[in-house]
Amino acid sequence: MGWWAWSVVFLAMFAAPAFGQRCATCHADPNLMERLVGDSAAAMRLGVDPATYEASVHGRLGLPCTSCHARLDGYPHGDIAPADCSFCHGEEERRWASSIHGRPHPRTATAPASCADCHGSHDVQRVGDPRSHVYRLTRFETCATCHSNPERMAVFGQKDVERVQTYLNSVHGRALVEKGLAVVAICTDCHAGEEGGAHGIDRVSQPTSLMNRANVVETCGTCHVGIRDQYNAGIHGQAFAQGSPDAPTCVDCHTEHAVQPVASPQSSVYPTHVVQTCSACHEREELNERYGLPPGRRSTFLGTFHGIALVSGQLTVANCASCHGAHAILPSSDPRSSIHPANLVRTCGSCHPGIGEGVAEGRIHLASVREINGFALLVQWFYYLLIAGTVLFAVVMIFLDQYRHRVVDARRRGGRDA
Ligand code: HEC
Ligand code: HEC
Ligand code: HEC
Ligand code: HEC
Ligand code: HEC
Ligand code: HEC
Ligand code: HEC
Ligand code: HEC
Ligand code: HEC
Ligand code: HEC
Ligand code: HEC
Repeated sequence: MGWWAWSVVFLAMFAAPAFGQRCATCHADPNLMERLVGDSAAAMRLGVDPATYEASVHGRLGLPCTSCHARLDGYPHGDIAPADCSFCHGEEERRWASSIHGRPHPRTATAPASCADCHGSHDVQRVGDPRSHVYRLTRFETCATCHSNPERMAVFGQKDVERVQTYLNSVHGRALVEKGLAVVAICTDCHAGEEGGAHGIDRVSQPTSLMNRANVVETCGTCHVGIRDQYNAGIHGQAFAQGSPDAPTCVDCHTEHAVQPVASPQSSVYPTHVVQTCSACHEREELNERYGLPPGRRSTFLGTFHGIALVSGQLTVANCASCHGAHAILPSSDPRSSIHPANLVRTCGSCHPGIGEGVAEGRIHLASVREINGFALLVQWFYYLLIAGTVLFAVVMIFLDQYRHRVVDARRRGGRDA
């Protein structure tokens, strides 16, 4: 607030009682209002409870009614302008006016959410006050008044009204509601604008949104600091920093509103789901070609003991992340990598204590036939020949058997008849 606004506030605090009482004469008296407008429902709507206003942040300061209802200085009122907060909160107003909630919406030509939609009108409280409509622990309820309301959102052509519910079932939502944990991610931590916080909310596709792809890692990283640093040091983080459109960010692996604890079977990174999460990219042919990555990671994993056991529900075996790590993933050529030959004894040893030096020589992802070493190739061909031979033998036996039944037996019967 600028000094001029403060001086008006200061002056108003002295003049206040007179103004407030004047308006309250009618607006705090339901009977008088009903007589004036001749309709009890309208009178109800026009009623202002003086106690509510006096308990609000503005009422406590003794601000007169006319600080928001400008040009309303007598009765009959005539042309009534909408309440205006901008004189004192110009900075908030400016930011809001260029956000998705303040810009006139193409469908309605009005602002989707006004100051009062989020803050209330006569019961505005400080943000840190539990009674505030934007109090941190209950703020989502205010967002939900619209974003969970199908009729209200349909006016703006929005059909997705499940987001708040999805959030409430996530690790963040449950920690907020069940544990009362104020430091978890709430709607406005993720959706704020780079400037102006909640007043700068915009579509995720806009570069100013903190959830725009370019900003996701930094935004999640304001709380998950250690993981952000690991991620930035890994191959995915490096590719992301270089502007690769294919590198995974936090939400590609964890989802956004539905983020779950790693230990939850619903989590996208639960042991049985990791394979699918990594494969969403690593099974894409054009991606592997573009980055020169080996293909077939999923099938060559699923063919191993670990893969078979994992699919059958044994959670303690290795999944992609057990060997590669989750955030600081590095190529096997990098000496710091958990899958660098020199580090395999340690990586495998975390589950196989005392595993020998020989692990580096074995292929961990079952290789394709082309890649398999000589002996394995020999064994494979031996089995191919064995199987083919067995099948051929069976076919010959059946043929001979049929021949005996139809030809030899028939000839014998023929001989007897003659
Ligand atoms: C003599 C009674 C009376 C007094 C005094 C009075 N009002 Fe009103 N006000 C009304 C009535 C009646 C209406 C309904 C509309 C109309 O008839 O103009 C109304 C309407 C309004 C509205 C518009 C509500 C809406 O959205 O339709 C606002 C805002 C308002 N008054 C604020 C004030 C303020 C602020 C003051 C003090 C500066 C004040 N009124 C003083 C009787 C009064
Ligand atoms: C902090 C700003 C602010 C102050 C101060 C304020 N109002 Fe309001 N008032 C609003 C807002 C916001 C609305 C919602 C409608 C709108 O946006 O115009 C509203 C609505 C109204 C309405 C219409 C009824 C309704 O709820 O829609 C009346 C009548 C009214 N105010 C009277 C008063 C009176 C009387 C006072 C003084 C006791 C007062 N206002 C003080 C912001 C204010
Ligand atoms: C979409 C909901 C929403 C709308 C619309 C909105 N606000 Fe806010 N406002 C908030 C939230 C949430 C906070 C808490 C601070 C934050 O997270 O940025 C806040 C904080 C504030 C504060 C406290 C100072 C600050 O910036 O932290 C003021 C003053 C304020 N808003 C005024 C306004 C005014 C004036 C308007 C209309 C021009 C408005 N707000 C519109 C949600 C909203
Ligand atoms: C005449 C000036 C004036 C007008 C008009 C006004 N306010 Fe305020 N508002 C104040 C003052 C003064 C404070 C107390 C600020 C402080 O102590 O930092 C305040 C506090 C607030 C706060 C709490 C800020 C915090 O730090 O938590 C919110 C939210 C707020 N106003 C919203 C509104 C909204 C919404 C409107 C319009 C409906 C409005 N104000 C109209 C002067 C005004
Ligand atoms: C008064 C109703 C209302 C309130 C309250 C409200 N919003 Fe909105 N919001 C809308 C509408 C309407 C849109 C525009 C939808 C569209 O065009 O797709 C929107 C757009 C958005 C968008 C961009 C959506 C998109 O589809 O691109 C985000 C993000 C958002 N709101 C978050 C919030 C958060 C967080 C809160 C609570 C702090 C909140 N909103 C409070 C009505 C509201
Ligand atoms: C952990 C971060 C996070 C939290 C917390 C979060 N969101 Fe989102 N939200 C996202 C991301 C990322 C997207 C974009 C992906 C999508 O469209 O689903 C998104 C999309 C949206 C959209 C559609 C925006 C668009 O441009 O398509 C709306 C509306 C929305 N969220 C509202 C909310 C509301 C309301 C809350 C609080 C109940 C909330 N979000 C909590 C991360 C978050
Ligand atoms: C390539 C996929 C991927 C990316 C990108 C990713 N994660 Fe993870 N994350 C995982 C996996 C897999 C786990 C489970 C690790 C485990 O089982 O030890 C995990 C675990 C977590 C955990 C829980 C830590 C624990 O061990 O309990 C948090 C918190 C987390 N990630 C946050 C983030 C954040 C923040 C980002 C963005 C900076 C991010 N993740 C990026 C895959 C990813
Ligand atoms: C405002 C801080 C904050 C932000 C921003 C935030 N988180 Fe969290 N997150 C937390 C806290 C605190 C917890 C722990 C909740 C608990 O233990 O109940 C958590 C838990 C998690 C977990 C579960 C870890 C586990 O226990 O297995 C994951 C995964 C996660 N967050 C991912 C993300 C992602 C992805 C983003 C960005 C889209 C994000 N977080 C943004 C604070 C935040
Ligand atoms: C959104 C797509 C995406 C997801 C999801 C993803 N990756 Fe990647 N990954 C990439 C891209 C792109 C590269 C190549 C980066 C580069 O070389 O610049 C890469 C590189 C790698 C490398 C290094 C390969 C090399 O030799 O350079 C490993 C190992 C790897 N990813 C493992 C994983 C694991 C394990 C998971 C799951 C936990 C996973 N990735 C999830 C896109 C993805
Ligand atoms: C038991 C440990 C282990 C598991 C489980 C595992 N990998 Fe690997 N991965 C390795 C080792 C060791 C290498 C390097 C030697 C090789 O290619 O066999 C490797 C190589 C890779 C590479 C090439 C990177 C490079 O720099 O050589 C990618 C990409 C990859 N794995 C992805 C995955 C994915 C995706 C999964 C899950 C479907 C997975 N891995 C499961 C150990 C594992
Ligand atoms: C997250 C833990 C974990 C990691 C890491 C891990 N394994 Fe395993 N592995 C298991 C479990 C559990 C079994 C099943 C053991 C059993 O039932 O006896 C298994 C089974 C095996 C088997 C077949 C059964 C056997 O005991 O002979 C081989 C071979 C194997 N692992 C090799 C490796 C190699 C090589 C690495 C490192 C590249 C590795 N594992 C990393 C957990 C792990």
